[in-house]
Amino acid sequence: MAVILPLSADVKTGADMPANAEHPGAPRHVAIIMDGNGRWATMRGRPRLFGHHAGAKRVREIVRACPDVGVKYLTIFAFSTENWKRTQVEVAGLMSLFRRYITREARDLLAEGVRVRFIGDRVRLDTKLQKLMDELESLTKANEKVHLTIAINYGGRDEVARATKRLAEDVAAGRLDPAAVNEETLPRYLDTCVLPDPDLVIRTSGEARISNFLLWQSAYAEYEFIDTLWPDFSAGEFTKLLVNFGSRERRFGAIPA
Ligand code: FPP
Repeated sequence: MAVILPLSADVKTGADMPANAEHPGAPRHVAIIMDGNGRWATMRGRPRLFGHHAGAKRVREIVRACPDVGVKYLTIFAFSTENWKRTQVEVAGLMSLFRRYITREARDLLAEGVRVRFIGDRVRLDTKLQKLMDELESLTKANEKVHLTIAINYGGRDEVARATKRLAEDVAAGRLDPAAVNEETLPRYLDTCVLPDPDLVIRTSGEARISNFLLWQSAYAEYEFIDTLWPDFSAGEFTKLLVNFGSRERRFGAIPA
């Protein structure tokens, strides 16, 4: 039975990626759980969507900070597979915010060298949003300065389940030998197949959990759980966390030399 790997010539896993030459201590890939928008708004006596809008401004600031601090890949958790349980008003408001963000930011993202990708299951999203996502991916596909990945209707377990389904289909169709499946096989079916694994995962708002975000990919990530609510998270605080990262010893399970 033939083994057909990788799925695309574009596929790169963390191990294949070169180190960050210009910023040797910087994490190449930072993933962020942007939490605390609702509380930030409530503390100001405003509706939760007010907090999400303030959060979107921070997204803009943090994306723009990446080239200066040596972060090549930024992945942000914008809407989880569990977030559909929120009120209809909040869900509709968030979807509208995503459409607005894409429409308003597209030109600047293109000009600033940002390549945008989306991860998550798009099928449940409205067709207008899906179209905007496709168009932004296509518009920015030649950019290389910063790789921004936005997770919408994303859940780590859902991603692994979808990946497993496609892997099983390849086995059933004779394209993949089950005996050849190892821990390098599944990542090639994940939504993140072209991205390196995150080096650093940041969660704002004082909650110390990972909430189904990049479960497979973050096996060896460093974590920062910080109290700041996402709409207050600044480029300055981002930079401090990156400095902290530089002083961490990452052993990946090995004994220090
Ligand atoms: C979690 O905070 C945040 C979200 C579910 C939405 C994240 C979305 C943004 C930051 C908006 C902008 C994003 C893009 C890509 C334009 P929460 O509402 O659960 O906060 P809480 O725990 O205080 O209630």
